[in-house]
Amino acid sequence: MDAFSKGIPKAELHLHIEGTLEPEMMFELANRNGVPLRFKSVEEVRAAYEFSDLQSFLDIYYEGARVLLKERDFYDLASAYFVRAAQDGVRRVEMFFDPQTHTERGVSYETVLEGLSRACEDARSRYGISSGLILCFLRHLSGEEAMRTLNGALSSKERLLGVGLDSSERGHPPSKFVEVFARARAEGLRAVAHAGEEGPPDYIRQALDLLKVERIDHGVRCLEDAELVARLKRDRVPLTVCPLSNVKLRVFETLGTHNLRRLLEAGLAASIHSDDPAYFGGYIGENFAAAQKALDLSADEVRTLARNSVEACFVESGAKRALLDEVDAFRL
Ligand code: ADE
Ligand code: ZN
Repeated sequence: MDAFSKGIPKAELHLHIEGTLEPEMMFELANRNGVPLRFKSVEEVRAAYEFSDLQSFLDIYYEGARVLLKERDFYDLASAYFVRAAQDGVRRVEMFFDPQTHTERGVSYETVLEGLSRACEDARSRYGISSGLILCFLRHLSGEEAMRTLNGALSSKERLLGVGLDSSERGHPPSKFVEVFARARAEGLRAVAHAGEEGPPDYIRQALDLLKVERIDHGVRCLEDAELVARLKRDRVPLTVCPLSNVKLRVFETLGTHNLRRLLEAGLAASIHSDDPAYFGGYIGENFAAAQKALDLSADEVRTLARNSVEACFVESGAKRALLDEVDAFRL
């Protein structure tokens, strides 16, 4: 089952590229760029990855991102990610990046975009992985700052697939970002948002009604609201669920008590993804394998999860059909 879960063709739709910074690369880039780290060794960094909630993770995640300065750093980061993705049967990546984490430190938007875009182009020729970039606004910052970020990105909007919303959820409802999402959608960008990870079901409703997003990232708290569940089911709203992340950030105590099976049983379009794999102990293949084992998922259920990831992709219908055929045809 492990080999089946890891090998089955799938789409990665919830992956923060800054969250793929492995401690080894953190040290390499810190040395290359002369950035001081408070850690003495790779082991010390890994030992610090004990989180009590989302914020305790975000503090260390933003700290790690300080080593990313040059275009080459972003290229190397994303290139290393694609090596792992190819090993996990990933055929399509819709990758989140957080420009404000970098522009705040004086790194230009173009530097970030160019490095990531180049790695995405190479992934197509090297591994046959198609990809797109989703610009995420940091929700702990203001709507005005998000709008400034979007304005800076629109001159090269053809290089983006869409916009997203991430960072500290509690106390930062989607309603803060109505104008910037409306503008992004008017410019032809797709829209997704994190909601219902730590925040209440109402944030999922706000993301749908106010931001008009097409997918919900996480969304696991929807089960607290039966009316919302009925709507998500009726409209087949994709939920990009990240099992290992949810355990590391204490949304669920263990994988065995994760509600993924219940989401599927409720008829929801849930899929499995990896969030910040360098921090949470596994890329998408490990997320599939660990969830399969802990929740005793059948091969058919694993295939459904892989199909759901493809159904939720922002690709044209012919490409989607071809990917679904690959999922359906997959045998070990
Ligand atoms: N940024 C990176 N990972 C995140 C997560 N799991 N939730 C919110 N913001 C994030
Ligand atoms: Zn996330």
